[in-house]
Amino acid sequence: ALNAARRFVRQASGTLGVAKANAGGVSSFKTCKVIENTLGNKPNVVVLGSGWGAISLLQNIDARKYNVTMVSPRNYFLFTPLLPSTPVGTVDEKSIIEPVVNFALKKKGNISYYEAKATSINTERKTVTIQAVSTVAQLAQPDNHLGLNQNDEAEIKYDYLVSAVGAEPNTFGIPGVQEHGNFLKEIPHSLEIRKRFLSNIEKANLLPKGDPERKRLLTIVVVGGGPTGVETAGELQDYIDQDLKRFMPSVAEEVQIHLVEALPVVLNMFERKLTSYAQDVLQKTSIKVHLRTAVSKVEKDHLIAKTKAEDGAVTEQTIPYGTLIWATGNKPLSIVTDLFKKIPQQNESRRGLAVNSNMLVKGTNDIFAIGDNAFSGLPPTAQVAHQQAEYLAKVFAKMAKNPNFHAELAKRTEKVDLFFEEQGIKPFDYIHYGALAYLGAEKAIANITYGKRSFYTGGGVLTFYVWRVLYAMMILSARSRYKVIADWFKLAIFKRDCFKEL
Ligand code: FAD
Ligand code: NAI
Repeated sequence: ALNAARRFVRQASGTLGVAKANAGGVSSFKTCKVIENTLGNKPNVVVLGSGWGAISLLQNIDARKYNVTMVSPRNYFLFTPLLPSTPVGTVDEKSIIEPVVNFALKKKGNISYYEAKATSINTERKTVTIQAVSTVAQLAQPDNHLGLNQNDEAEIKYDYLVSAVGAEPNTFGIPGVQEHGNFLKEIPHSLEIRKRFLSNIEKANLLPKGDPERKRLLTIVVVGGGPTGVETAGELQDYIDQDLKRFMPSVAEEVQIHLVEALPVVLNMFERKLTSYAQDVLQKTSIKVHLRTAVSKVEKDHLIAKTKAEDGAVTEQTIPYGTLIWATGNKPLSIVTDLFKKIPQQNESRRGLAVNSNMLVKGTNDIFAIGDNAFSGLPPTAQVAHQQAEYLAKVFAKMAKNPNFHAELAKRTEKVDLFFEEQGIKPFDYIHYGALAYLGAEKAIANITYGKRSFYTGGGVLTFYVWRVLYAMMILSARSRYKVIADWFKLAIFKRDCFKEL
C-alpha cells in the first residue's frame, strides 16, 4: 500500500519512498519525510544523543562551518557522576541537568535540536530515521516550519553522523531483573528508587518489630560493586544514618543494605590498597558486602545469589528484599546493534561500534562514534566520552580548513585512516586523569593522575572534599554548578530533601 503523499516542506525536506519487506517479499511502500538542512550550503553534521559525548561535541564544534543537528529524546544533559546522590536528595535531580538548548544558545552558527528518538541509521541513504518527535528547535531559522507531527516518522539527511547514544543497563538476561529491579542510569530511575524506598519505609513502619515482612521491606539489595553500586549504597546509608535516624530511629536501625559483587573485590578499577579501604568503610557503615557472589535469579520479593568460595565450592542463598538496585554495567542499544549488521566491518562488534584512532566507525567514511557506544578499548566513562568529543571537534575544524576535504573523503572508501594521516590529522590520544568514588560517611577514594603519572592516591574525609571540588569543576554549565554547590551548603544546614512523590 502506498501512503498518501505527504506535503513537501520548503527549504529542508522532501519525500522518500521506502520499500518495506515482509515474509512474502516486498509488499508495502511508504513515503517518509526527508529533512535536509541546506542553509549556507555547509556539510550537515547530525549528532545523536545529549549526553557526555554529544554535548561536549556541541560545546566545541565550530557551528559556523557545519550545519549541526542534534537528535535526542532527552532534552537535557545529565551530569551522571552525581546521579547516585539524587535518589535520597543529597543533590536535587534538577541541579544535575541542563537543557540542550541552553548549550545550543551559547553557540554561533546553525544549530537545530530535535527532541526525538533515532530509530535507525540508514547508511546507503545517509539518513537517520527519527520517531516520537516532541519538539524541534531550529535556532538559526526559528520561523521555518517543518510540518512534522508528533507521530510522524521522518529521516534526517547527514553528510557526517556522530553517534553518541550511550548504552543501556545490562541485565545479562537474568530472569526477573527487568520486571523487579531498579536501574540508576537516568533521572526517572532516581525518582523510581526514591518512591520505592520511601514507600517501603512507610509500610514497614506500620508493622510490628520482628515481623519478617517488616524486615524484608527494610532490606535494600544493590547488585554490582562497580562505582554506581558502591556510590548508591553509600548515599542510601548516609540518608539512613544522617536523616532517617532522627525521626524514625527504630526503623533506621533495622534497614539493611546488601552490596552484592560477583568479583572478589568491589571497585575493581582502583588499586588494591584503595579497594580494601573502600570495603572497610562500607562494612563499618553497616553495609553488608557479599563478594564472589553473583545474582542468578530475581523474584518479586527475593533473589537467589550464588557465592563461589576460593576453593571453588558454591553456596546458594536467598535474600528477601524490599528494594533492588541493579548496577551491573551496560550493553549497546538496539540502534547500535542494528548498525553492527549493516556494516560488514562491524559484523563482529559486540560491545560497541569499533572505531579507528580518528573516532571514525570502521568500514565507513562518514560515521563517527564517541562515548559508550564506541569501542576503542577504553573504559565507558564520561572522562573518555568528553575527551573523544573535544578531539572530534578538532578533527571537524581541521577538515573545514581544506576546501576539498569533504569531496575527497566522500570518494575514499578504502584506507580512510591513511587519508586522515595524509591530511595531518593526528590520532586521538587519551589522557587518564584518574578516578574518584564516594563511599558514604563523608569518605571517598581517589587516584589522581595525568596519563601514567600519579599525583594523589588516598581515601578518607579529605579525599571526600577533593572529590566534591573536582566534581564541581567537571560540571558542564555554570547554572548546574551553582545549584549543586547550593545543594551541598543546604545539606549542611537543613539535611536532605527526600520526598516520595517528588
Ligand atoms: P550518555 O551520557 O549516556 O548519553 C547518551 C545520550 O543519548 C542521552 O542523551 C540519551 O538520551 C541519548 N539517546 C539514547 N538513545 C537514543 C536514540 N535512540 N536516539 C537519540 N539519542 C539517544 N563516568 C566518569 O567518568 N566519572 C563518573 O564519576 C561517572 N559516574 C557515573 C555515575 C552513574 C550513575 C552512571 C550511570 C555513569 C557514570 N559514569 C561516570 C559513566 C558516564 O556517565 C558515561 O560513560 C557517559 O555518560 C557516556 O557518555 P555518552 O555520551 O556516551 O552517553
Ligand atoms: P561496572 O561495569 O563498572 O560494574 C558492574 C559490576 O557488577 C562489576 O563489578 C561486575 O562484576 C558486577 N556484576 C555483574 N553481574 C553481576 C551479577 N549477576 N551479580 C553480582 N555482580 C555482578 O558498572 P557501573 O558501576 O554501572 O559503571 C559503568 C561505567 O561507568 C564504568 O566504566 C564506570 O567506571 C563508570 N562509572 C564511574 C564512576 C566513577 O568514576 N565514580 C561512577 C559510576 C560509573
